Amino acid sequence: MASFRGALVVSIALVLLGSVSAGFFDDYNIVWGPQNIRANDATGEVVIQMANNDSSGVSFSSKASYLFGSFSVKYKLVPGDSAGTVTAFFLHSDTPKQDEIDFEFLGNSSGEPILMHTNIFTGGVGGRESQFFLWFDPTTEFHNYTILWNRNHVVWMVDSVPVRVHVNSNPTVFPHNVPLHAHGTIYDASTWATRGGAVPLDWSHAPFAATYRDFTYDACKAAPNGDASACTRNVGGPWEQPQFQTLSTMQKMLLRGVRSRYMTYDYCLDKERYPTPPAECVANAQAYAM
Ligand SMILES: *[C@@H]1O[C@H](CO)[C@@H](O)[C@H](O)[C@H]1NC(C)=O
Ligand SMILES: *[C@@H]1O[C@H](CO)[C@@H](O)[C@H](O)[C@H]1NC(C)=O
Ligand SMILES: *[C@@H]1O[C@H](CO)[C@@H](O)[C@H](O)[C@H]1NC(C)=O
Repeated sequence: MASFRGALVVSIALVLLGSVSAGFFDDYNIVWGPQNIRANDATGEVVIQMANNDSSGVSFSSKASYLFGSFSVKYKLVPGDSAGTVTAFFLHSDTPKQDEIDFEFLGNSSGEPILMHTNIFTGGVGGRESQFFLWFDPTTEFHNYTILWNRNHVVWMVDSVPVRVHVNSNPTVFPHNVPLHAHGTIYDASTWATRGGAVPLDWSHAPFAATYRDFTYDACKAAPNGDASACTRNVGGPWEQPQFQTLSTMQKMLLRGVRSRYMTYDYCLDKERYPTPPAECVANAQAYAM
């Protein structure tokens, strides 16, 4: 059985059983900025921050990699003045020409809305951005961000509301054979994040801190050497069940509502950049057509 339930679920279960907890740092490598992350295995909360102008935030990556699954995390984003910051939850192959699936949150000045940026890469090629405002303030409560990734599509969800779908219409533009690591980060993106870089980070408002909890991966784990061939054969995972292969009528309605009310950018609609929309755009639009 190649299915695996996420690190913190496992560690919390161990705590309840009275055994020694595996803990966050057993499951993740800190890529940079170990001084800027605090994991509390008792509460399951992980705080990531930028505190000083001489540090660059933090980046962490799951030791294990996965091919297909459902990946969720709840987080409370940087409150107040978050301009110039980017907080992100994403899947990445950790290889030079990467496969990657992203949720990124671009900070803003106090009182201005944080922008949710999504993208997907295969073989190092991205350029498939969609951006959204949220229908709530993401800094006051925990909200649940999910990447459902199976053989048929990738669905980005916010509190279980699908906001974007990318269909496997062509394997060259769909991550399908390289296992991905789960990542989290916060970093200084003053040069581009907020109003195209017009509003850089204001260090007098530091620290900038976001909090994560409930990392849950229900996903097919690759072998420690990265061999994911068992996952390419494993069609029995919960994320491959029929109800996860297409959007339901209700999910289509929700997704269409989000697109019409909250979407600020979709590469499929950017005629200047792509005079002919990329081929997958037709399949993606069909996936939420009523
Ligand atoms: C960083 O902080 C130091 C003092 O703590 C200050 O001298 C320096 O100008 C700051 N740099 C930036 C880019 O804000
Ligand atoms: C987050 O949403 C996903 C997708 O609906 C769901 O499977 C998961 O249980 C949710 N996580 C939490 C902690 O509520
Ligand atoms: C920040 O707020 C401005 C004004 O409301 C908005 O135009 C912009 O899209 C927001 N987000 C970013 C990341 O610039």
